[in-house]
Amino acid sequence: MFDEIEFERMKRLPKYVFAEVNAIKMKARRAGEDIIDFSMGNPDSPTPKHIVDKLKEAASKPKNYGYSTSHGIYKLRLAICSWYKRKYNVDLNPDTEAVATMGSKEGYVHLIQAITNQGDTAIVPDPTYPIHSYAFMLSGACVHTFELVYDNEFRLDEDVFFQSLIKTIRETIPKVKYVLVNFPHNPTTTTVTKEFYTKLVSLAKKERFYIISDIAYADITFDGYVTPSIFEAKGAKDVAVESFTLSKSYSMAGWRVGFIVGNEKLVGALKSIKSWLDYGMFTPIQVAATIALDGPQKCVADVTKKYEKRRDVMLEAFGQAGWKMDKPNASMFIWAKLPDIALHLGSLEFSKQLLIKAKIAVSPGIGFGRYGDNYVRIALIENEKRIRQAAKNIKKYLNDLQEEGKGKEIKKRKQD
Ligand SMILES: Cc1ncc(COP(=O)(O)O)c(C=O)c1O
Repeated sequence: MFDEIEFERMKRLPKYVFAEVNAIKMKARRAGEDIIDFSMGNPDSPTPKHIVDKLKEAASKPKNYGYSTSHGIYKLRLAICSWYKRKYNVDLNPDTEAVATMGSKEGYVHLIQAITNQGDTAIVPDPTYPIHSYAFMLSGACVHTFELVYDNEFRLDEDVFFQSLIKTIRETIPKVKYVLVNFPHNPTTTTVTKEFYTKLVSLAKKERFYIISDIAYADITFDGYVTPSIFEAKGAKDVAVESFTLSKSYSMAGWRVGFIVGNEKLVGALKSIKSWLDYGMFTPIQVAATIALDGPQKCVADVTKKYEKRRDVMLEAFGQAGWKMDKPNASMFIWAKLPDIALHLGSLEFSKQLLIKAKIAVSPGIGFGRYGDNYVRIALIENEKRIRQAAKNIKKYLNDLQEEGKGKEIKKRKQD
C-alpha cells in the first residue's frame, strides 16, 4: 500500500551488520543451543545495592510520580558537576553547562539533531560506535572519516591523527562544523593523553569547529591508565561538550542515565530540544543516579577489577587456543585481530562461523566501519569459566579451519 510514500530519512541508514549475526544467535538460542555471548557492551553485573535501595526508597514517595524535569533534577545536575570537580578538577555550572540524559546515546542523538543543519559536515574517525556517525546522517549531515591509527598497546598515534584530521578538514566542503572523539574508544579501546585534548582544542579554535567528546568508558581503565577529560585542556568549554554514562561504571545500562556537559551554546540547544521532546527520566531514577555519582565509589573499582581479570583470562586462554590478541588498557572490550588463518574470511563471515561452529557471539569489526574489517570486538561480559569454555571451542574451531585449509591445499595440488 502507498508505495509512493517513502521514508527518505530511514534510507540514510545502512544495513545493520550486527542484525545478521544477531539473527543467527537468536535462531541458535531458540533451538536450545548455549551461545557464549560476547557481542554487546551490556554489563552483566548487578547495579550496586545502595543505588537500587535508593531507587526503592524514592519510588515509594508519591511526590516523585509526576512529570520530571527534561534536563534533569537540580540535585542530579549538581552531582554531575561534583563528579567533574572531584575527578578532573573542572568547574561546571549545573544550570547552564550540564544536562542529564536518558543514557548518553539519547543525549548524543538529540544534541546532534538540535545543532545540525541540512548539508552540514562532521568528522568521525573510523572505526566508530555506529551512532556517532548515524546521528549526523539521520539529521541530514554529511560525515567524513579517516582511519584511526593506534599502536599494539592501543595508544592513539596522535601525530597521524592530527595529520589526518587536518587533511580531512582542508578537503571538506562545506567547512567542517563538528568533530567527534571517543577515548577510551569503542570499539578499538584506543586511549589518548591529556596533551591530545590541548592540541585538539587549539585546532578547533583555529579552524572554528565544535568538538563532541564521548568518555563512556572513562572509569574502566587498567594498569594505571587514567582517562583524561577534554575539559582539562584550557579553554575547552569554548568549543566542546563531553558525554558520560552511568551504564558502564555503575552497571546501570537498563536504567538509561547519562549526561552531557560543557559549552553553554551546545548544552543550551540540547536542553531546549529536550524540553520539546521529553519530560525527563522518572524522578526516582534520577534520585538514585545522584547517589551513584555522589555515593561510595568502591563499586566502580570493583567492576573495573572484574573486567581487568576477565581481560587477562581471555588473553591467556584464547592465546593458548591459538588466537593471540593485543592487550587493551581501557574499556570492557578486546579488539581482536582475526587469527591469521581466518583473515581471508573478513570479520562478518568469521563472526558467523564463530557462532555456528564455536557457539560464540562477537561483533564483526566491519559493523563499526570499513577500517574494522580485520577485527572483531569481544565484550568482557561473560564470566571467567565461560571465557575458558569459549577458548576450548575456539581451539577446536581453529584446528578444524586449519585441517580444512590443508584439505583444500591437497585437493588443489592434485588438480594441478
Ligand atoms: C562509546 C559509547 N558511547 C555511548 C554509549 C551509550 O551508552 P548509554 O546510552 O547506555 O549511556 C555506548 C554504549 O555502549 C558506547 O559504547
